[in-house]
Amino acid sequence: MQSKRSRLDQFLAKKLQLPKKAVRLILLAGRVNVDGETCKEMDRQINEFTAIMLDGDFIQNQQKQYYMLHKPVGVVSATKDDIHPTALSLLAGVNIEMMHIAGRLDLNSTGLLLITNDSQWSQTLMSPETKVDKQYLVTLANPIDDSYVSAFNQGMYFGFEDITTLPAQLEIISEYQARVTLQEGKYHQIKRMFGRFRNPVIGLHRESVSNINLDKQLLAGEFRPLTQTEIALK
Ligand code: URA
Repeated sequence: MQSKRSRLDQFLAKKLQLPKKAVRLILLAGRVNVDGETCKEMDRQINEFTAIMLDGDFIQNQQKQYYMLHKPVGVVSATKDDIHPTALSLLAGVNIEMMHIAGRLDLNSTGLLLITNDSQWSQTLMSPETKVDKQYLVTLANPIDDSYVSAFNQGMYFGFEDITTLPAQLEIISEYQARVTLQEGKYHQIKRMFGRFRNPVIGLHRESVSNINLDKQLLAGEFRPLTQTEIALK
């Protein structure tokens, strides 16, 4: 999801349904206030979080919002779905109109799901270039052994997309459980990687993304706003 950058005059023309000439006159008359100051510049760059007033009334005033949700099984990581409840529908009392999910989880996966209206922030988190760690607790149908560790670390070639996965860390926790750390999120990546060993994943739980750990106080289906430290991704 792209940050919605545009020029002030273009934004006003669209919002007020006026021709550019009329917008220019409104601006020159000093009737527009941008982030607390009168603005007469047609080409002023704005985005969806720039506070804009016309004649003292807000015509745009959106605050940035960031939440973590403990995603339960059976909830779909989407804004709309005809069959399953969506992650956004669990954010009771939150205005979800402009919100999106930063990094999806499969229908049967559980754990940390980040939801925001700040597309620049979610891009930073999810872009393969940023190489943010995502940690998952994985439960397998069959026992695992040390050969998994090197295979995950070497990366795996997926012919369908013609890609080799980045080195992933696998820590064996018990015979049937591993903690996997990825820096990317290809389609069904973890399931497909264990698929190479013909070992079905029977539980997949995201514990953290970057410095954001799933809050242990949150039961499945519960959510809370992120703290300033979490938002800062440090
Ligand atoms: N990998 C998967 O296969 N599924 C997820 O939900 C997340 C990572």
